Amino acid sequence: MKSKTATLRSQVRRATPDDPTPWALLLAADGPRAEIRKYLSRGELWLAEAAGQVVGQMVLLETRVGTWEIMNIAVSDELRGHGVGTALLRKAKAVAIEHGAHLLEVGTGNSSLRELAFYQRFGFRITGVDTDFFVRRAGGGRLQKQNGIVLRDMVRMRIELASQP
Ligand SMILES: CC(C)(COP(=O)(O)OP(=O)(O)OC[C@H]1O[C@@H](n2cnc3c(N)ncnc32)[C@H](O)[C@@H]1OP(=O)(O)O)[C@@H](O)C(=O)NCCC(=O)NCCS
Repeated sequence: MKSKTATLRSQVRRATPDDPTPWALLLAADGPRAEIRKYLSRGELWLAEAAGQVVGQMVLLETRVGTWEIMNIAVSDELRGHGVGTALLRKAKAVAIEHGAHLLEVGTGNSSLRELAFYQRFGFRITGVDTDFFVRRAGGGRLQKQNGIVLRDMVRMRIELASQP
């Protein structure tokens, strides 16, 4: 069982054109690179910094009118479990509300057990399952495993912003 660890003080800001694309972090959450490029070019890249270093990122995209989605979110491996991911989720919610959105969505893998806990602890509710999403994306290629479970389905989750305090 993981013990509670100290929160890392971090700031979340929108990336500028001068910021290098944080590929290692983007690829920690999703792949392949070509899929990431598709939403990166249309979405907003946000960076979490601690002591002047980029320690996390997320990509937000308006997928439908009034609906924003977290397309990608990741924190540096060695700094996970210190609240940076939650700080990114708080910013995602604030950005969506600023844009007048009524829904904030995210999708995660059926085998991503810790991430399923992470999102639900923040307030996301499961709204559906895109069965075989990752099987289709693999296009006959090898399927990944996490926690001994084959990654096949995308679990769709959302927060209704209108009902948030
Ligand atoms: C998911 C992720 C962004 C969470 O960021 P984080 O900074 O570890 O999140 P926080 O510290 O705010 O919250 C961690 C909590 O979520 C859970 N958690 C989820 N994924 C975790 C992970 N890979 N490592 C540690 N804790 C994780 C823990 O149980 C922890 O609980 P606690 O608050 O009781 O300690 C981060 O773990 C990560 O980058 N994972 C790899 C990329 C990824 O899978 N992205 C999501 C794709 S859908």
